[in-house]
Amino acid sequence: MKEIEVKTPARPAGSYKILISHGMLGKVLSAAGALLPKRSLFIVTDANVVAAGHLQTLTRGKKVNKYVIEPCGEESKNLGTIAKIVDAMEAASLGRDTTVIALGGGTVGDMAGFAAAIFKRGVPVVQVPTTTVAQADSAIGGKTGVDSSQSKNAYGAFHHPSAVFIDVDTLKTLDERQFKAGLAESVKHALLADAEYFEYLDKNMDEVLARDPDAMEHLAEVNSRIKAFVVQHDPEEKNLRRILNYGHTVGHAVESATGYSLLHGEAIAIGMVAAGKIGMAVGLGDGRKLGRVEKVLDRIGLPVVMPKGIETPVLLEAMSRDKKAVSKRPRFVLLEDIGKVHSKDGQWAVEVPEETVEKVLAELSS
Ligand code: GLY
Repeated sequence: MKEIEVKTPARPAGSYKILISHGMLGKVLSAAGALLPKRSLFIVTDANVVAAGHLQTLTRGKKVNKYVIEPCGEESKNLGTIAKIVDAMEAASLGRDTTVIALGGGTVGDMAGFAAAIFKRGVPVVQVPTTTVAQADSAIGGKTGVDSSQSKNAYGAFHHPSAVFIDVDTLKTLDERQFKAGLAESVKHALLADAEYFEYLDKNMDEVLARDPDAMEHLAEVNSRIKAFVVQHDPEEKNLRRILNYGHTVGHAVESATGYSLLHGEAIAIGMVAAGKIGMAVGLGDGRKLGRVEKVLDRIGLPVVMPKGIETPVLLEAMSRDKKAVSKRPRFVLLEDIGKVHSKDGQWAVEVPEETVEKVLAELSS
């Protein structure tokens, strides 16, 4: 079992462990019980996770109070589902002595975490991520929330988990497209912080794509270390944590312009190539390195050019509406090199002339 500690000055203060292994899902509830004793457990999961058999493995057939989200995914990520989760917790006569167990991918973790943040003014949550995106990114760092009718994550809270249990065996049942899209977060981490990790991904892509348990555990460990380092230095995204949005300025615009038909990781892959080209246009990086990044993304099976029919003005409009834009001007995280982020005047997300962004987007669409 690999263990990584995350220190959290923010709510709840203290630290938590990320525990990484395979074949441990059946022991998670007793481990969570030992960590947070004398508490009732309430599981939040979704219909896909149940169909994959992970709920059954987690509970080992024992009766535990739960809420199963259906339909799965973004469609249910709203306040209505949070109300249903809280209603189910009340119907089970649960109180402040409850621990929420979030079993699933990014949307389950976000919703379970948010329900835990607000139930009776806050109860602990233990994250048990079952997808590549959740194991690499969303289960760690305490971001929770749901969408409004207008925008993503409009309602939210920072609510750090009390523990994260990553059982890489849960990835075995993950649909191929979801599996590959989540690997974009691993490439992102490598580009931001660890050139050796990038080499590993480049050289061991066959094992990664075959979901080899050792490779999966290695990815989970390096991803967790990088994410833990960033979030403990800047838990509420005042500055450094913005680097985790590498590729997201263009990526979010692509998601919105394609009506969310691309998965998050697919849009982020395009966004990382765009950020690489923008970096080159402002004198950072070089074409050979960007070529290596494109090759790795392409090997995974992720897109590296804009889907047909996406107009540059639509993307620019979406970027000006991005919640991280300052005075409607989008900011970009850029790289100095593979494994090294560029910063200017102590800021990790920097402004780029609009003509440069426009030129790069047009180039990616041609
Ligand atoms: N997914 C980006 C972050 O956790 O800040």
